[in-house]
Amino acid sequence: MSFDFTPDRQQFPVCENLFYLNHAAVAPLPRVSADAMQWYADDAMSWGSFHYPDWMAACEGVRTELSRMIGCGVGEVAMVKNTSEGIATIQMGLDWRPGDVVVAFKEEFPANYYCWKLLEERKACTVRWLSIYDPLEKIDEACREARLLAISWVNYLSGFRVDLQAIGEVCKRHGVFYFVDAIQGLGVFPLDVKACGIHALAADGHKWLLGPEGWGVLYVDQAVQDQIFPVEFGWTTVKNWADYASREMTLRTDAGRYEPGTLNVSGSFGLRASMKLLNEVGMERVSGRVLGLTDRLESGLRALGCELMVERAPGTGSGILSFRREGVDSSKLHAALKARRVMSAPRQGWVRFSPHFYLELTEMDAAVEAVRDSLNSI
Ligand SMILES: Cc1ncc(COP(=O)(O)O)c(C=O)c1O
Repeated sequence: MSFDFTPDRQQFPVCENLFYLNHAAVAPLPRVSADAMQWYADDAMSWGSFHYPDWMAACEGVRTELSRMIGCGVGEVAMVKNTSEGIATIQMGLDWRPGDVVVAFKEEFPANYYCWKLLEERKACTVRWLSIYDPLEKIDEACREARLLAISWVNYLSGFRVDLQAIGEVCKRHGVFYFVDAIQGLGVFPLDVKACGIHALAADGHKWLLGPEGWGVLYVDQAVQDQIFPVEFGWTTVKNWADYASREMTLRTDAGRYEPGTLNVSGSFGLRASMKLLNEVGMERVSGRVLGLTDRLESGLRALGCELMVERAPGTGSGILSFRREGVDSSKLHAALKARRVMSAPRQGWVRFSPHFYLELTEMDAAVEAVRDSLNSI
């Protein structure tokens, strides 16, 4: 039972100030991560690069934590500055050929939409635009001719979570390159990228992974790395990168080939600590709690006469829940909630709640009460 487990609330001082239901936008840093970044800042201030091996260990640690989280090899993890850079690495790194077809989805966040739209506009490929709510048979049909399918694990607005395993089986059957934007699911749900047949996956660290902004991860299956040429060809892209005199341009044999140069060490200190914290809690427990929290919100909001953007079901629910009430301006509702220290996000006429595992059911009840009071006051 997920609610038998007591999260270490010392790690989340944000709870002293706010009801923080906004992890789908930007997460607060856990104490360990803020401390790790502080340690790095003090170290760099007092010692320069004297402890450089410790810095590199922080960067390598992010790879290790991701491999624990999604079941990939450490050599299959590249560090990227955000999800968009991860997506662009795949989009620009593949050698598009006449007749190539991409399967993409119209409800996507712009990051996983524009890149494929651009290829379509440049006539580099044809895009079959589907809906994330389409039945699997329709995806299967579109994949018959396709080279690549790109989808988000969890939709940023409705919170609809797709069945990565089932889509992976479709991609495998048709020999389709399978790309996943994982930013709204990674850090909440368990995932085995090998079992799902995912070829590449990208996510930034600042949402459900609880990391600092602007430092993320890109997983690329070893088996497809030679199909994706590094678009940012830099000094650490090559095999002999530590030998500055070498002019040998043979690529590295791991996903480090997608990193053109110096990594974000400060970000790595924070992200490693956050991912380690989550891995230690375990994704089964995290997802159980997150779903329990959003279920509680759902029943409370429905009792207030609010409408949810999509019906939630056990297999498709997530940490995101968007709602509104007829006749109420959602941006005003968001502002009224903020005044009551409840952090949400106003999105396209909806108010979006996104609680993480360390919150309590009683706090969901308090948030619902704040919604009720806000509705009465605006
Ligand atoms: C599904 C999805 N993809 C990507 C992003 C953001 O991408 P980036 O990490 O490039 O800022 C978001 C942000 O809300 C998102 O919800």
